[in-house]
Amino acid sequence: MNDKYKIMFRDLHWMAYRYVHGRKSAAVTVVCVGDGHRPQTAATFAYRTAWQCYSVDPQLRPRIYNIKRLSLHRCKVEEFGFHEKKNVLLVCVHSHAPLDKAVQSITNYNQLAIISIPCCVHQKIDRPPDLVYRDENIHSPKNEVLVWKSIEEK
Ligand SMILES: C[S@@+](CC[C@H](N)C(=O)[O-])C[C@H]1O[C@@H](n2cnc3c(N)ncnc32)[C@H](O)[C@@H]1O
Repeated sequence: MNDKYKIMFRDLHWMAYRYVHGRKSAAVTVVCVGDGHRPQTAATFAYRTAWQCYSVDPQLRPRIYNIKRLSLHRCKVEEFGFHEKKNVLLVCVHSHAPLDKAVQSITNYNQLAIISIPCCVHQKIDRPPDLVYRDENIHSPKNEVLVWKSIEEK
């Protein structure tokens, strides 16, 4: 795990626990979009919670990880779909996937919250985030954190 991940996760997890239900709840699914070659964000959530953890990225290297509740989806988010009645947290860490496409890939949920830390691809949906702050502990100029606490299904 690189430094960016070691440092940012304390804060990211705190936000995640605050806006979705408890970390021990099996009713929560976290979908980590643009996770990179390795499922770093999703794997960290799998270690720290009882949630179902999905890593979605076309560049995921085919490898088997012996991590409970972690599932890998080697595809673009446009080809991914999650349609279960769960509380869903969408997490996009320096993702290059358009955020609106990521939101569209999730339907039929109970509750949807989003945490996005943008880099090159502007993370825009049809409403502004509820919370925007800079996490100076992320050792990157791309350290702005956007939080949508709850998204209505259309
Ligand atoms: C800058 S990398 C970030 C990787 C990792 N999250 C990190 O912070 O180190 C951006 C990632 O977004 C992925 N990506 C680009 N378009 C995507 C799409 N449509 N759906 C899912 N992932 C996508 C790329 O494959 C790449 O791995």
